[in-house]
Amino acid sequence: MTPNQLFQKAHASYVQGDFPTAIKVCKKILRTNQTYLNAISLLGTIYAETGELPEAKKYLEKADRLNPASAYIKGNLGNVCKMQNDFHSARTYYLQALELDNNVLGVNINLGNILAHVDKDAEAASRCYRKAAEIKPDDFDLIYSFGRSLDILNTAAAIDYYKQALNINPSQIDVYSDLALALLRTKRSDEAATYLRLGLDKSPNNAQLRFCLCVAEGRTPDEDINTEYINSSVQKLFDIYAKDFDNSLVDKLQYSAPVEIPQFLKETVPDIHFKSCVDLGCGTGLIGEEVRSFCDEITGIDISSEMLSIARAKKCYEDLQHGEIIEVLNNSSRRYDLFVAAEVINYIGALEKLFCAVSAKANPNALFVITTERCEGDGYVFQKESFRYAHNREYVEKVAAMNGSTILHVKQIKLRMENNTWVAGELFLIKVN
Ligand SMILES: C[S@@+](CC[C@H](N)C(=O)[O-])C[C@H]1O[C@@H](n2cnc3c(N)ncnc32)[C@H](O)[C@@H]1O
Repeated sequence: MTPNQLFQKAHASYVQGDFPTAIKVCKKILRTNQTYLNAISLLGTIYAETGELPEAKKYLEKADRLNPASAYIKGNLGNVCKMQNDFHSARTYYLQALELDNNVLGVNINLGNILAHVDKDAEAASRCYRKAAEIKPDDFDLIYSFGRSLDILNTAAAIDYYKQALNINPSQIDVYSDLALALLRTKRSDEAATYLRLGLDKSPNNAQLRFCLCVAEGRTPDEDINTEYINSSVQKLFDIYAKDFDNSLVDKLQYSAPVEIPQFLKETVPDIHFKSCVDLGCGTGLIGEEVRSFCDEITGIDISSEMLSIARAKKCYEDLQHGEIIEVLNNSSRRYDLFVAAEVINYIGALEKLFCAVSAKANPNALFVITTERCEGDGYVFQKESFRYAHNREYVEKVAAMNGSTILHVKQIKLRMENNTWVAGELFLIKVN
């Protein structure tokens, strides 16, 4: 067989997924013709697909030396470097590929992803995505993924991709809320409300859409809508956020509760020691780790299973329970001496049911420690910018009193950073019942 016939055989085997035969035949070609470009390039492609990256790179570099004008080979070299997490080389090969041919879809997508996720350069990423969207304008998954990549960078450019995605497939409910959230961030509440209503026409019970529509229309979500929202969207939010949570909250945002709470308890509680503690909305266990030394046993409750799995790995809780705090407390037969709710009440809003559940599960002389985001005015307010609630001190006092509980101490704290300013918080020590 001639080298060309052999290559056809190798290529056919590759297409059928028979990689061993394709490799064998390519290598046979190279024994007699060391510079047979297609065989070299195909070997590089196959090794890349099978994850043998150094081999893939070796063959693709050789192919690139033989034909430096191939955007396809440079693109593949970029892909191998990207798989090796060598983003600098990947970026260089992709840029060279685009100089040769600006219309290679995969190169535009992959370069766009590096620019968005590694370089965090929304404008440059958007240029690549725009080109890719021109090449393949009807691919919902692709266009939606561009929106999401740009949305993470908080750029309004995401909006156009979400709109394009909805034009392709208007039945994809998640896009309505992503689009509305992006519009809300750019203060286009009316437009956000329009898309939310369109989404609700298709999915009237969608918790995220119902919650966001309240925000877009300037209404405080009622308790039912808020609970639905916690059960769906807050859970999802923290599932996604879990891996970065400790690093992001403590290191970047200087979250102070893990230091403030134990210090506050030590300052205010004589002979500090608790037989049983429950950490409400325990998250990844930042608080559990700090109060462990003066509690015989700790239970953690959280709605996010991903947050709980990080808490579990820290091995500082005797028991971890998955679910909504009030529901879990109400369905439990256990009682506790110390209740802690750090950075959780700001997702709950109305506190009556929470205080009632705590009070029902408290041992005599139990204490309840909470952090709130502080606000002036009446009761509690929903903060449109952050999607969290802030609570007024009198409201906390009033709800505590309704359950026969007493505020023992209040301390003003700097809770954490947000948009380069401190979030003003309050720390309450409450005697339950
Ligand atoms: C900002 S994190 C704080 C975590 C932890 N308390 C800390 O201080 O590190 C909020 C946590 O509360 C959980 N959460 C919010 N509302 C909840 C609810 N109603 N029931 C259960 N978990 C909730 C979230 O899943 C998340 O893990």
